[in-house]
Amino acid sequence: MTPYDYIEAQQDAFLEQLKEWLRIPSISTLSEHKADVRHAAEWLRAHFMLMGMARAEVFETPGHPIVYAEWLGAPGAPTVLIYGHYDVQPVDDPARQWRSDPFEPVVRDGKLYARGATDDKGQTFTQMKAVQSLLATGEMPVNVKFMVEGEEECGSTNAYAFVEQHADLLAADVVVVSDSHILAPDRPSIVTGLRGMTYMEIEVFGPSHALHSGAYGGIVHNPAQALAEILAALHDGDGRVAVPGFYDDVAELSAGQRTALAKVPFTLERLEHETGLTAPWGEAGYELHERLGIRPTLEVNGLISGWTGEGSKTVLPDTALAKVSCRLVPYQDPLKIYRLVADRVAALTPPTVRSEVRLLHTGNWVVVDLDSPYIRAAARAYEFGFGAAPVYVREGGSIPIIGTFQKTLGTPAVLLGFGLPDDNLHAPNERFHLGNFHRGMKTAVHFYQQLGGRA
Ligand code: BES
Ligand code: ZN
Repeated sequence: MTPYDYIEAQQDAFLEQLKEWLRIPSISTLSEHKADVRHAAEWLRAHFMLMGMARAEVFETPGHPIVYAEWLGAPGAPTVLIYGHYDVQPVDDPARQWRSDPFEPVVRDGKLYARGATDDKGQTFTQMKAVQSLLATGEMPVNVKFMVEGEEECGSTNAYAFVEQHADLLAADVVVVSDSHILAPDRPSIVTGLRGMTYMEIEVFGPSHALHSGAYGGIVHNPAQALAEILAALHDGDGRVAVPGFYDDVAELSAGQRTALAKVPFTLERLEHETGLTAPWGEAGYELHERLGIRPTLEVNGLISGWTGEGSKTVLPDTALAKVSCRLVPYQDPLKIYRLVADRVAALTPPTVRSEVRLLHTGNWVVVDLDSPYIRAAARAYEFGFGAAPVYVREGGSIPIIGTFQKTLGTPAVLLGFGLPDDNLHAPNERFHLGNFHRGMKTAVHFYQQLGGRA
């Protein structure tokens, strides 16, 4: 039996196993789910042993655990490190917009709906089952290591230290990550870059406690209003980030590079299909795919202040909080960006209130070296699995650990994504196209066969 026959024969079993993992609500950012996150890690460790890995361990960190597994039975062959994350996003996005329970996976129209279906349990599982198919048929052509972490969705800070402390354990020729998407099932794509991140909280403090808005409104600077004034001043009328120095280290692309990127434009049709919006927004002078791929941003992720419950309450809040993140591009430095934003917020804060800018986490941007045998193998593998040659795109999202793999271990990365742009990651009704689950396993098997010189 070939690994491909094995994939066909096991399809239904694979789906049931994935559903089992998806039922565990491993939301890393919420402390009340700490035990669930651990449960998902333990489930994964046990599953690695079931699928024939020689070793599987749960490593403790100051935060959520990291699962490591290996099979090193191909001496002399290349070693592949497969990275993924088993933590998932919260589901209050809002919860009532989910058509079915986010932690009770169901298949509708050939798509598996659940939180984590695509990001990233489903995609990591695609890699695991490709490896299992090679192991079970005695055709594993490479050495494999897995590192699957539980804090990707909240910044990977403990994973950085893990990589630094376990450089020997994680040593590999290439790191493979399935945590991104292709353009369409008949239009595979290779990610050539990811943006970095600086995530902050901006808090504005007003009176010592919340006040009656009639008794004090008009003589006290409302911190919600002050925060809104500060946030509004962080962009100019051209959609540019109005923080002095913010663009200083941004690499300007040559006309040739911009033409190359324009081969895959982000169309207005795609915007409308994926978001329901007909009017785009953003930095003047740049196309939509450039605003996403090669330009940095500053985004408000959330706002908290005053009365947000049912009905009305006349109150003048004592504090206001914004969750703010910057997406970064070459050659911006995440910590420098934090200092620039903090300085700007301090300068914008009027004497009537007090403000604080707290750093939550940072991550480096990534540029993939396209002139590499691994990228060429990935291109052929996509062609084999999806029936079309891939196009090359810069992604707007971030996978913070990849920069660390490149810098600390010196290992090149291949982003072998199997998601789709409308998979609703971080949103209600997240899903994974089962066709891509299937094609993804074939693609990964073919990729490993090439690395091992067997395809
Ligand atoms: N899978 C995503 C990253 C991604 C999204 C890649 C879209 C390509 C296209 C990943 O799980 C993620 O969401 N990462 C976070 C990282 C952040 C918390 C530092 C992100 O991008 O917001
Ligand atoms: Zn995510």
